[in-house]
Amino acid sequence: MTTNRVRKAVFPVAGLGTRFLPATKAMPKEMLPVVDKPLIQYAVEEAAAAGIEQMIFVTGRGKRAIEDHFDRAPELEQILDAQRKHELLELLMSATPPGVNFVYVRQPEPLGLGHAVLCAEQIVGDEPFAVILADDLIDANPGVTAQLVESYRRTGASVLAVEDVPPADTSKYGIVATERMNKLEERVTRIVEKPQPEEAPSTLAVVGRYVLRPEVFTELATTPRGRGGEIQLTDAIARRVARGEVIARRFEGKRYDCGSKQGWLNANLGIGRNLGLV
Ligand code: UTP
Repeated sequence: MTTNRVRKAVFPVAGLGTRFLPATKAMPKEMLPVVDKPLIQYAVEEAAAAGIEQMIFVTGRGKRAIEDHFDRAPELEQILDAQRKHELLELLMSATPPGVNFVYVRQPEPLGLGHAVLCAEQIVGDEPFAVILADDLIDANPGVTAQLVESYRRTGASVLAVEDVPPADTSKYGIVATERMNKLEERVTRIVEKPQPEEAPSTLAVVGRYVLRPEVFTELATTPRGRGGEIQLTDAIARRVARGEVIARRFEGKRYDCGSKQGWLNANLGIGRNLGLV
């Protein structure tokens, strides 16, 4: 590997967001606001706080609003400046944290999360990287990406963020079986994509945060289409699990599944409460 520091994060944002139609017909799911900020900005802020320097977006059709959001808006900046609305101007500029750069790559067809991550291979190169799914909004301090980076630094293993889910929900997640290593980490011994409750090895679910070693790209390149006809990130990770190279960390924080309407509503209430709005 060229470096052991986690400097890059991949944000797969090329999904269709069908559970949020019609809101997502002409707008990316990742631009849905929670209170006043789009989901993707929460995710970028979490990455920047973890020391990530390069934000790599895997985009698709109809996702241009994300590029615009992280670009300068000179006309708007001039107007706010002329009107002496300096607080608003600062808020506007805060979308792009200092020292961070943004790179965009297209996923030509939504062939699955694994395929989306593989689209970033040339940009990531031979180094560890984070994967952040913005629709899992996690309110945590330190942020969950920082928690995973810390585990990676100590162990050198790929790290998955996990939490217990109700048994009836296993079919929505990658589910892991683990062996305890220490207070923070567990070694993953098995991973299964979206098992029915009776087939699930546990109720420990992988959520939308990963720090992965670059070997996962080699696995992804030869991973056949799996569940739902999609190239699954879980299937590629499963091959590294077989080599004993993957660990899980039960993160500290409150997760809102903003890919679902109920989760998104709860996020607005939870974050709104933090802000003293409800
Ligand atoms: P989801 O399973 O939530 O799918 O993808 P989705 O298309 O976003 O939403 P629904 O289920 O149709 O409502 C998990 C993550 O993987 C990305 C999505 O953008 C989301 O962040 N993804 C998924 C891709 O980038 N490409 C794909 O081909 C599939």
